[in-house]
Amino acid sequence: MVLGAAAQGVLGLGFGAGDQAFAARSGVSSTYVLMGEDGARIARAVTQDDHCPSIRIDGRASVMTQRAGKVTEPLRPTRSDPSASRPSVFDTLVCEAAVPTSAQRAEVAGRVLPLPPPVIERIVVIGDTGCRIKLADHAFQACNDSKAYPFAQVAAAAARWRPQLVLHVGDYLYRENPCPADQAGCAGSPWGYGDDAWRADFLEPADPLLKAAAWAAVRGNHESCARAGQDWWRLLDPRPLVAGRDCNDAAHDDEGDYSDPFAVPLGQGAQLVLFDSSNTPAGAVKPDDVRWARYRDTYAKIEALTHKAPHTLLADHHPILAFSASQAKTGEITLRPGNGGLQSTFGSVNPGFVPAGVDLLLSGHVHVWEALSFSSAHPAQIVAGFSGTQEDIVPLPAAPAPGATPAPGAVVAAMSSWVDGFGFMTLTRTGADQWLAEVRDGDGKVVNTCRIQGSKLACDKVQVPHA
Ligand SMILES: [Fe+2]
Repeated sequence: MVLGAAAQGVLGLGFGAGDQAFAARSGVSSTYVLMGEDGARIARAVTQDDHCPSIRIDGRASVMTQRAGKVTEPLRPTRSDPSASRPSVFDTLVCEAAVPTSAQRAEVAGRVLPLPPPVIERIVVIGDTGCRIKLADHAFQACNDSKAYPFAQVAAAAARWRPQLVLHVGDYLYRENPCPADQAGCAGSPWGYGDDAWRADFLEPADPLLKAAAWAAVRGNHESCARAGQDWWRLLDPRPLVAGRDCNDAAHDDEGDYSDPFAVPLGQGAQLVLFDSSNTPAGAVKPDDVRWARYRDTYAKIEALTHKAPHTLLADHHPILAFSASQAKTGEITLRPGNGGLQSTFGSVNPGFVPAGVDLLLSGHVHVWEALSFSSAHPAQIVAGFSGTQEDIVPLPAAPAPGATPAPGAVVAAMSSWVDGFGFMTLTRTGADQWLAEVRDGDGKVVNTCRIQGSKLACDKVQVPHA
């Protein structure tokens, strides 16, 4: 094995000869740092070994704790037909260790882990990154073609920007069904909800970005219990993995499909609050539905968290205040509103949908980049679901028709979009409540720039043209 200068420096500084030998024979395939409740830093390692690796924090070594083991879970009911489903094979251990916020350096298996600074000013935002293979929709993205499925390139370019934090707004796993024999573009792809599909759809293409910065991971609808919820809990939820919340048994989905919002302090009066909307429906929720109480409780907990900092960026998967577009066979384009489940439940508590103190909503789910600012009291909303998954290509208008709104009472002042273009967004903090948002293509080139001040934003381009 030939080590680069940086890697040799790491080993020379942090590891002795025994450690180097250990790193060389380690089965660790992925390491990353997740941001958890109150800014907790959780180191994770995925390994083919039958034991967890050690972690060295500021020179002190300890063995990481096993979070999830090697196991094959029997097939549970999923969103797919049983004929296109399989048991979930988990062939790796997921190991973890808490890293104190005071720690300066942490290393696992010869890799230095990316720890965020106390004040976070450079954030990469990506979303909707998996390669879509879904029989019911006859959707077969060409996972083997980096132009058709460019997540690895997007992740590498985003890593080169040197973020201090990565926010993924959800939907990681799209390879739900087998690639049909007549589809060369996805031939040979792993599929289902086990570790092999997660490696292909997430851990391997995301690796440069997992090495570059700590992650704030939002849960998408693709990570609900009836889809890829099992490995969501194993790999990406920052909280303890508890039996019954692991999505292994559908009888407990009313536990596994929900989790409490939490705050990641960004320093100097700002914070990122993440919430789990993975099981919200597109339409309104009725009061006798379990989701009514769950999402009203989520709202109350978000509101409590907003009191912890003057400025809150609120991130989830489903946009509350953005449009999506659909096109009829006649060619007519219809603008659809934001998520009905969240609008109905959050709106039953507060007709404005989100607590005061939220400056900006960050979401995915719609496979475009889109930004809206409102002349009403609603916070600006950005959608960043454009980082790898097959795009939504129905064009969004330069401006909605007069009176058109993504949510009752929200008055659109400005709208900007990039439809049918893959990439990522960067947020650079420029003031107490100010951010520069730069929309970038898969090479990292800026295609649009927006300035965010408080709860308003303005972008240079109303529509980014096709590449
Ligand atoms: Fe989604």
